[in-house]
Amino acid sequence: MLTEIEDLKAEALAALDAAATREEVESLRVRFLGRQGVITEQLRGLGSLPAAERPAAGQALNQVKNALAEAARARRETLSRAAVDAELGGERIDVTLPGRGQRAGGLHPVTRTLERIETFFRHLGFDIVEGPEIEDDFHNFEALNIPAHHPARAMHDTFYFDDGLLLRTHTSNMQIRVMAVQPPPLRVIAIGRVYRCDSDLTHTPMFQQIEGLVVDERANFANLKGILAAFCRHIFEADLELRFRPSYFPFTEPSAEVDIQCVICRGAGCRVCGHTGWLEILGSGMVHPNVLENVGIDSERYTGFAFGMGAERITMLRYGVDDLRLFMENDLRFLRQFAGGG
Ligand code: DAH
Repeated sequence: MLTEIEDLKAEALAALDAAATREEVESLRVRFLGRQGVITEQLRGLGSLPAAERPAAGQALNQVKNALAEAARARRETLSRAAVDAELGGERIDVTLPGRGQRAGGLHPVTRTLERIETFFRHLGFDIVEGPEIEDDFHNFEALNIPAHHPARAMHDTFYFDDGLLLRTHTSNMQIRVMAVQPPPLRVIAIGRVYRCDSDLTHTPMFQQIEGLVVDERANFANLKGILAAFCRHIFEADLELRFRPSYFPFTEPSAEVDIQCVICRGAGCRVCGHTGWLEILGSGMVHPNVLENVGIDSERYTGFAFGMGAERITMLRYGVDDLRLFMENDLRFLRQFAGGG
């Protein structure tokens, strides 16, 4: 009887040792220790043994029962730990592996242009200012020498709000806002969005402008020409010729529109410049004395010059982009072309 028990124990321990899963351990436990398990049956059968053998056999069976229960527990634990280790091993991150590669984003071409323009003027000692896009009639028109019913208002297709406010049609509003709070001498650049009720191939209802204003005791047209010539050389990175064409703006007198030699054909004449060899890039002039007086600046003592241009137009010329709408469409195939360079 006792050898039988020993054999049973050896068999069960070997089987547990070989069990590869927790399910297998469990079925072995049931087979040996379950309610109808082999050991349990034997314990039940003790009564039929001769009385003299009973205590030794009972003791031996109980020992086997405990040993098997312990062996099953230990095996289950070993398998659990191995399972956790395997899972963690699979999840481990090797921080020394090379990265998957990242594509760096890029600035929008119009933003690139604005930053380049801003840097240029900063180096010349200009302050950069920003102001409201929702504006009143005074700052957008009246103080700029454009009274109600002035024909120049027809040049601005203005978006009006019910309460008399409007979306500024140009950044020239900032000339007034700056001069109203800052005594001359002053040198500022205003950059920002402007709005016009206008939409076709070459116009969008919103675009960005750059406005420059200098007011000083001896600011003159030669200064304006010098600054704009340096500006064009810097922005277009070429020695392009400039042409000052007499023009009219209510807030400047005299006024001039500035053309640069066509960046595409260098003056020979092409489709982009309408075969004139010239491209118009900005409006400028000497600040009208009325404008200075409107903000309380003595026009006998001070003079000023101003200029204004569209950021999208400069960007188109700078990069040779021929469709304004590309700037608004957020097509990554277009935008990625500007991700790398300046
Ligand atoms: N404000 C004008 C426009 O939006 C541009 C302009 C012209 C600005 C002449 C100026 C200037 O400062 O002197 O069309």
